Amino acid sequence: MATQSQSQQAQAIKRISLGVDWLDYALQGGVPRGNWLLVTGEPGTGKSILTIQSAGANVNAMPVVYVSTETRFKDVVLQASQFGIDLGDAVSLADVLAGKVKDARTNLVVIDLFGLAREYRELLRAGEEEGGKRRAQSPLSMEVVISAIERAYEALGISEEGKITRDVLVIIDSLAPMWAHAPAMARLITYSLRQRLYRSNVTVIMTNQFAPTTGETFGFGAEHIADAIIHMWMEEPEARKGIERWLIIKKARLTNHYRRALRYEIEPGRGLVLLEPSIEELKSS
Ligand SMILES: Nc1ncnc2c1ncn2[C@@H]1O[C@H](COP(=O)(O)OP(=O)(O)O)[C@@H](O)[C@H]1O
Ligand SMILES: [Mg+2]
Repeated sequence: MATQSQSQQAQAIKRISLGVDWLDYALQGGVPRGNWLLVTGEPGTGKSILTIQSAGANVNAMPVVYVSTETRFKDVVLQASQFGIDLGDAVSLADVLAGKVKDARTNLVVIDLFGLAREYRELLRAGEEEGGKRRAQSPLSMEVVISAIERAYEALGISEEGKITRDVLVIIDSLAPMWAHAPAMARLITYSLRQRLYRSNVTVIMTNQFAPTTGETFGFGAEHIADAIIHMWMEEPEARKGIERWLIIKKARLTNHYRRALRYEIEPGRGLVLLEPSIEELKSS
């Protein structure tokens, strides 16, 4: 009897689309359900735009929690609209907690850590109870982010006695502010983030900045908790007097991913667009 082919096996895994067709091809359809994808890169390489495309691609099929540590809710929605992405009836967690959203029937909760500042004392207390001791006085501490994500699960109606009742996509853009106050703690923070958030039905896409000067991810990075890593960079913009964008899939568990760098551009209305190789070449590889 013929054994299942490699591609059949890969297809049997449920995959979460990134909302960028050529990246999905390069990943045999996307990120395996329950896996954690880390997107690293210098500022301006398109990490946030990629995460917004991913949110837009999945919001009709599953609940999405979008944590934005760097931009406000309205800017996430505005950036999405520039690329023709409809984020559905997205609500801000800050508005939910402030009682401004009544009977929300939404598939997307945006946690904007700026908008949350008003509610943050309450969340911090929840985080402290959970963590058992007083944490850093920052609205960006991991405890606050986790408490906020748990509130978002409740707002989405997918949380039952600590269990997540449906597949959900959690996006964290970006991780870096969580250890801005203690860079040496980065590994510990990300390990414990994974331990606390991990569920087989929770798929995570997270971003982290990459320092072009040292070539190191800020605070030693989060690579060790990632099942998949996409790295994005610009090829010597000063020497070339222009922006040339590249990305490479450095790792993708359970996936026979594309091995070479992919050149792309960011286009209004379209988002991340493949320049080379051709999509045909990618599909046939
Ligand atoms: N509406 C737009 N149309 C085309 N390109 C855009 C648009 N908005 C932003 N960009 C490009 O995307 C870049 C920012 O991408 P972003 O995802 O925010 O980067 P990162 O999150 O990696 O810092 C900008 O520097 C610009 O080059
Ligand atoms: Mg960004």
